[in-house]
Amino acid sequence: MFEPNVFRARRRQLLKSLTSGIVLLPGNGESPMNYVDNTYPFRQDSTFLYYAGVSRPGLFLLIDLDDGDTTIFGKEPTVADIMWSGPQPGLAELRERSGADKADDLEVLDGVLTRAIQQGREVHFLLPYRVETRCQLEDLLGLKPGQSLQNHSEELTRAVVAQRSIKESRELAEIEMALETTQVMYSVAMQATCVGKFEREIAGLVEGIAIAGGGRLAYPCILTKLGQVLHNHHYHRRLEAGDLVVQDSGAATALGYASDITRTYPVSGTFSVRQREIYQAVLDSLTHSLASVQAGRPFRDSHLVAARTLTASLQQIGLMRGDLDESVAAGAHALFFPHGLGHMMGLDVHDMENLGEDYVGYDSEIARSEQFGLKALRFGRAPESGYVLTVEPGCYFIGPLIDQWKAEKRHEAFINYNEVDSWRDFGGVRIEENIVVTAGGCSILGPPIPKSIADVEVACS
Ligand code: GLY
Ligand code: MN
Ligand code: MN
Repeated sequence: MFEPNVFRARRRQLLKSLTSGIVLLPGNGESPMNYVDNTYPFRQDSTFLYYAGVSRPGLFLLIDLDDGDTTIFGKEPTVADIMWSGPQPGLAELRERSGADKADDLEVLDGVLTRAIQQGREVHFLLPYRVETRCQLEDLLGLKPGQSLQNHSEELTRAVVAQRSIKESRELAEIEMALETTQVMYSVAMQATCVGKFEREIAGLVEGIAIAGGGRLAYPCILTKLGQVLHNHHYHRRLEAGDLVVQDSGAATALGYASDITRTYPVSGTFSVRQREIYQAVLDSLTHSLASVQAGRPFRDSHLVAARTLTASLQQIGLMRGDLDESVAAGAHALFFPHGLGHMMGLDVHDMENLGEDYVGYDSEIARSEQFGLKALRFGRAPESGYVLTVEPGCYFIGPLIDQWKAEKRHEAFINYNEVDSWRDFGGVRIEENIVVTAGGCSILGPPIPKSIADVEVACS
């Protein structure tokens, strides 16, 4: 838990970017899994966490932009709440921990907002991503169903994105902590993986390490021998000799900060000749794109550096052909690398994407491309020092995509479909690192996790 002063300072900073009215930040509520009392693990909204720091369901934060006062709204815990769920902070403690000026009962909020609206004051809120929050907001603000999806405040969104984009040193320390746990996830998983084990056995170990680390997984773990299924959340397959495992997993700290790492490793401990070729191609793509990242240079350039490096390697292997520049410009590599190079990371694994992906990843200089592959790049604009991003090139052999492109003869000048056919069962490789951008480049965050072919083979042996 950061000191209350941290949240006060963040709110003061936010005030400087906004003009007048009221900022209303809803915290999250409980979310039922299959009946009201059986809930998904509670996760506070990240913007609420950022400005108020308290993780308890059913809270609202109201910042008055005109007098600078902040009030936290919630319910005093009842005896029944304490009987079922244990001791929990009351309003006075929530006020103290968040550094708010006042705390008040949630019942009062409706009247406060109604008066503000009658006085013609603007109520700024962010795009809601949970239906429950949407309904609460529309109820409180007298909006029609669905209206909160249009009426959210662009001014507030831009101010929050600008502020949360630059990570404070205490936030970087949290992300480093998440990565310490993540390193253990990988060393244990690589050692435990062997022929005859099921994916779920390794995935279970990984999740246990996240919980033992004091937090939880930052997102559902991907642990699969079908690495070409980009977000494969199934773990029922038996690992066989010759399989490659793609593990994409990250920890969230107790305060909610994420990590997001991917490694690809051979079940039998050594890569085959073909696996080495593709693995090295992805690793080179990662190395070159990392070297290209720097403050002020559009991250889209780094995506294209990754694409170019991969294309050059695939040409050497015989899977691609033709002029390198033309091939990259046409987006032919997206058959093998259909996703973006990376995204922001912080309190959310895809930081702030709930506020609108393009507010986070694009600006007046860099607009999102329409091209297949490049359009999946979630962050294309130039980062500043202190931005935390993932860098995660991959190479996949996706059967239905190959069939579709081949039938359309798409990019035939650049793709050797006859050769691709003999690689159809390869699967996929992805390698992902987390970085902080600096003036002259970037630094990889966290302790090293085996990545070179030699190091991965040692870790798996
Ligand atoms: N873990 C999801 C991603 O890498 O974006
Ligand atoms: Mn990932
Ligand atoms: Mn990622």
